[in-house]
Amino acid sequence: EKPWRDVIAVDDLEKDWVTRVEVGRTTIAVYDTPTGIYASLALCSHAGADLCDGYFDNHVIECPLHQGAFDVRDGKPIAAPATRAIRGLEVRVRHGKVQVRI
Ligand code: FES
Repeated sequence: EKPWRDVIAVDDLEKDWVTRVEVGRTTIAVYDTPTGIYASLALCSHAGADLCDGYFDNHVIECPLHQGAFDVRDGKPIAAPATRAIRGLEVRVRHGKVQVRI
């Protein structure tokens, strides 16, 4: 199992929006939502656009390239042309830091 890693302070997250975080050479997207914090790889499953540049609303990230969309709670695609899930990451908060298993 992958270790938990601190990736960003909760206070540094964009409120109700998506925040880009570099973890080593991997770019992840951290989502602040009404029901908590979620995270995924930043890579869109359709053609690899950076989801951190997308539009975020409630629990849905819309890809900036072709407007595919995903529910960040389970990564599932909810709008074409996306057909495959994005890769979600386990998240927890400890001591004011967002931690992700990666
Ligand atoms: Fe994201 Fe095409 S790259 S919808």
